[in-house]
Amino acid sequence: MAIRAATREAIDAAGLALREGALVAFPTETVYGLGADATNGRAVAAIFAAKGRPRFNPLIVHASDAEAAARHGRLGKAGRRLAEAFWPGALTLVVAREPNCPVADLTTAGLQTIALRVPAHPVAQALLRAAGRPVAAPSANRSGHVSSTSAAHVDADLGSSVAVVLDGGSTPIGLESTVVDVSGSEPIVLRLGGVPREAIGRALGQPVAVAKGEPGKPTSPGMLARHYAPAARLRLEVRDVHDGEALLAFGRIVPEHSGVTFNLSASGDLAEAAANLFAALRTLDRPGAATIAVMPIPHEGLGEAINDRLRRAAKLP
Ligand code: TXA
Ligand code: MG
Repeated sequence: MAIRAATREAIDAAGLALREGALVAFPTETVYGLGADATNGRAVAAIFAAKGRPRFNPLIVHASDAEAAARHGRLGKAGRRLAEAFWPGALTLVVAREPNCPVADLTTAGLQTIALRVPAHPVAQALLRAAGRPVAAPSANRSGHVSSTSAAHVDADLGSSVAVVLDGGSTPIGLESTVVDVSGSEPIVLRLGGVPREAIGRALGQPVAVAKGEPGKPTSPGMLARHYAPAARLRLEVRDVHDGEALLAFGRIVPEHSGVTFNLSASGDLAEAAANLFAALRTLDRPGAATIAVMPIPHEGLGEAINDRLRRAAKLP
């Protein structure tokens, strides 16, 4: 696989590769995506093969703007409100599919709903315009691994099945998008992510609940417990570290520890912590430390999504 700096020329070539059915990994403001032409079932099948996904989860369809997104699904009143407030950005809306939507059935795993996102990252925007069609893109990592936040992570995780990785540096948010299902009578958060739940509630004018993850349930497979698991065990909310453990720290005051440490944010900034989270798990999850001790993270703003990922990585319900 080739890593290429995301120049105009590389982006145009990648857009052409997408139209020809190849896979292209690209940066978004959340994490790197593994993209394919969403209307090409064979290309989308190649995504599942490259990721080694055990089953066909529905994928997010990326569009360059809200108008293009609305051609594929019916946003409805709540969806339009959220789109206005957060697109382009780290929000994915699950809506009813338009009957004549050209997106392949495999992309939506045969569901009558479709997950739509308009990313803000300039490289993602330029690629979507160069491709001139909707792009299906899950996070660019092997199934069960943490999401990739740099081109090097994509390269380490995915094989030669990817035509090119557009290198746009580290992804600024570092957590996946918040997935909100607006296809039912009440909006509900299917996956916590880059847009805090409180912000969603403010835009809707009412608080929004988080779906209880029933593992394997097709409407919210993003809640699959193992999704974010590193190989090491995780011990959460620790105040003191044991010998031989790696330490995932947060904040200015860190417990005494002789082993390897990664501080998500020494200043206690949750946005910085989110941006560092997956790289930190990758760094600490290597042979040597069987357990990663994790300091408490405040459960507010982006902290809610960070704690959600950590609980999944710890294989807690
Ligand atoms: O930030 C992100 O969202 C990244 C970037 C690349 O856009 N993408 C990403 O995709 O995280 P993926 O495939 O790893 O996660 C997509 C999530 C999954 O939890 C999936 O189950 C959910 O969206 N999803 C997709 N379509 C759905 C649908 N029709 N109904 C319910 N959930 C859906
Ligand atoms: Mg993923």
